[in-house]
Amino acid sequence: MRCVLVTGAAGFIGSHTALVLLNDGYKLFLLDNFSNSSPKALHHVADLSILTKEELGERVSIINGDVRDSALLQNIFSRAKSNGEEITSVIHFAGLKAVGESFEKAIDYWDNNVAGTIKLLQVMENNACRNIVFSSSATVYGSSKEKALIETDPISPINPYGLTKATIEKMLANIAGCQSTRIAKQYSPRGWKIACLRYFNPAGAHPSGKIGENPKNIPNNLFPLINQVAIGTKEFLTVFGKDWPTPDGTGIRDFVHVMDVAEGHKAALDILISSKPQLLIINLGSGKGTSVLDLIKKFQFSTGIDIPFKFSSRRQGDSAISLANPSKALEYLNWKPKRKIEDICRDSWNWQYKNPMGYK
Ligand SMILES: NC(=O)c1ccc[n+]([C@@H]2O[C@H](COP(=O)([O-])OP(=O)(O)OC[C@H]3O[C@@H](n4cnc5c(N)ncnc54)[C@H](O)[C@@H]3O)[C@@H](O)[C@H]2O)c1
Repeated sequence: MRCVLVTGAAGFIGSHTALVLLNDGYKLFLLDNFSNSSPKALHHVADLSILTKEELGERVSIINGDVRDSALLQNIFSRAKSNGEEITSVIHFAGLKAVGESFEKAIDYWDNNVAGTIKLLQVMENNACRNIVFSSSATVYGSSKEKALIETDPISPINPYGLTKATIEKMLANIAGCQSTRIAKQYSPRGWKIACLRYFNPAGAHPSGKIGENPKNIPNNLFPLINQVAIGTKEFLTVFGKDWPTPDGTGIRDFVHVMDVAEGHKAALDILISSKPQLLIINLGSGKGTSVLDLIKKFQFSTGIDIPFKFSSRRQGDSAISLANPSKALEYLNWKPKRKIEDICRDSWNWQYKNPMGYK
């Protein structure tokens, strides 16, 4: 059976990906320290899966722990081996992700994201596991570009969070024996199979409304904030900046449905498993830009709920436009998003409406 360790599995993208992989026949070791998530997310994943209780017992292990804990990681690999199984791939979601917070807590970001990945890679190497799908981010590209970003564009992150992601990509390229993080597909002479997926703006939720985005801290992303206004826990949405060099003056983002992102992980994992050692660096985005004002309109139209908003000054670390050129994802992963911005608005609200307190 294909056995995969998923770090940060209870988080927003991890939980949706776990569901897709479970339904596709993978056996999963789901690790999370629940610093930004709830174990309930994983119970809901189990409920949503097509597996019977018995199959779930055989195919899912939930581990409460930290990716920086090498002994724990080794224990997960050893226990699998002692049961006659071998973890041959890792999907690495665990990490801190709030751009604003990364300025105030830069050391925590380097520790969680970079040191955490080093510990993980050491244990993987010790167990001859050299397949990894890594959660990278569009933030590695840096400040605003007018055109859609392609994998060969310069790497120049403008915030500590993006810098940690760019550093991890460089470390992975180096370990794989590859020259650059500006080439979408390279052969790895060191036998590693690595996919760095640069997500743009994952949003939405599983259409059931049973799993979704549930940050424990003050949310940084637009959708949880819009949802809070829609549900009435926030009076209005703050729109950071109305003087960006965009047609309506607000930032433009590339929203991609979290189920599409989850399916992108399965596509990447399947490709890595079945092909020669390689380093893939791939954008996961829709290629369609939506401004903040546009998004407010679309959300109101899809849900019928009014979203009051107020402008504020630009936020540190933000950029005017962040838009993917997703052509390499189609070429190398045979992946393209199936869902539209309207689906994102509807599913995101459905999750919030059915779970006003998140997983609490
Ligand atoms: N959501 C986005 O907009 C976005 C965009 C680009 C990249 N990413 C990256 O994708 C990954 C997943 O993002 P998400 O939106 O699901 O975030 P999330 O916070 O919902 O999920 C991350 C999970 O990792 C766990 N975690 C954090 N540090 C850990 C540690 N040291 N050990 C074990 N578990 C730990 C958290 O509890 C959480 O469940 C992150 O690495 C993030 O940086 C996210």
